[in-house]
Amino acid sequence: MDKKILSGIKQKPYFTEGNFVLYNQDSIELLKELPENSIDMIFADPPYNLSNGGFSVHAGKMVSVNKGDWDKSRGFDGDYEFHYKWLEACKRVLKPGGTLWVSGTYHSIYQCGFALQSLGYHILNDISWFKPNASPNLSCRFFTASHETLIWARKDKKAKHTFNYDLMKNGNWPEDQLKKPNLQMRSVWAIGTPRPNEKRFGKHPTQKPIDLLNRIVLASTNKNDVVLDPFTGSSTTGLVATTSGRKFIGIDTEKKYLDLSIKRLKDLNQNIKNIIKFA
Ligand SMILES: C[S@@+](CC[C@H](N)C(=O)[O-])C[C@H]1O[C@@H](n2cnc3c(N)ncnc32)[C@H](O)[C@@H]1O
Repeated sequence: MDKKILSGIKQKPYFTEGNFVLYNQDSIELLKELPENSIDMIFADPPYNLSNGGFSVHAGKMVSVNKGDWDKSRGFDGDYEFHYKWLEACKRVLKPGGTLWVSGTYHSIYQCGFALQSLGYHILNDISWFKPNASPNLSCRFFTASHETLIWARKDKKAKHTFNYDLMKNGNWPEDQLKKPNLQMRSVWAIGTPRPNEKRFGKHPTQKPIDLLNRIVLASTNKNDVVLDPFTGSSTTGLVATTSGRKFIGIDTEKKYLDLSIKRLKDLNQNIKNIIKFA
């Protein structure tokens, strides 16, 4: 990891291994200590502010939607203020051509989109991530929610950003029934929720699939770029960044999720060592 980038941070990292660094802190506070114009890409999966006592279905059973205090709503204005502040902090640290991805459902994504526009980001795409295996709807009074939206935006209106067009068009994307070989990649992606073996070290309640982050990281960064995730959770972003030779900074307020991230990273590094040994 480029030492200059981390030199202004007062708190010691929670964990470091090679180019993978985790901090246990509020991301708005930590981002203030990073240098301006230093980060190539940010992937952010902020709280959806949904943990207010409702119910959903999982594996055919009714389950509480409460994920933790970190996911409680602060009310409409409070939630918007939170989204505005972290997006503002991210904009300062991004390089001019750096890009930011934000994911969310209809509960949060419109506030994030409005904040992005208010802050002068240049929106590049809104991706519809269709989940072919999404849970059914319990009440049978609405359509079954089966997608999330990802907004991809650049810091500066005029700067040039990274988009690995050929890889997206001609690469191998077998997980996606909508991607036709050798045709341009479109803005609707069919990618299932995380496979059971992605959760073998424990569950994060809103863990993102490796396949989704793999596509995002490969599309919008190059080798040795610095990728940051301000709501890293189980660090799906960091695992993909490590596998593909990018540097990674992950931030989360919950130690239990950082511990899960460390288990996942250690397993990944062991697998990489085994592959090298037997190659
Ligand atoms: C939606 S989850 C991210 C899940 C992650 N994408 C994954 O694949 O595991 C949001 C995460 O943000 C963390 N969080 C919430 N508020 C935060 C804040 N102000 N600063 C840093 N982390 C925060 C939560 O602890 C939670 O792990």
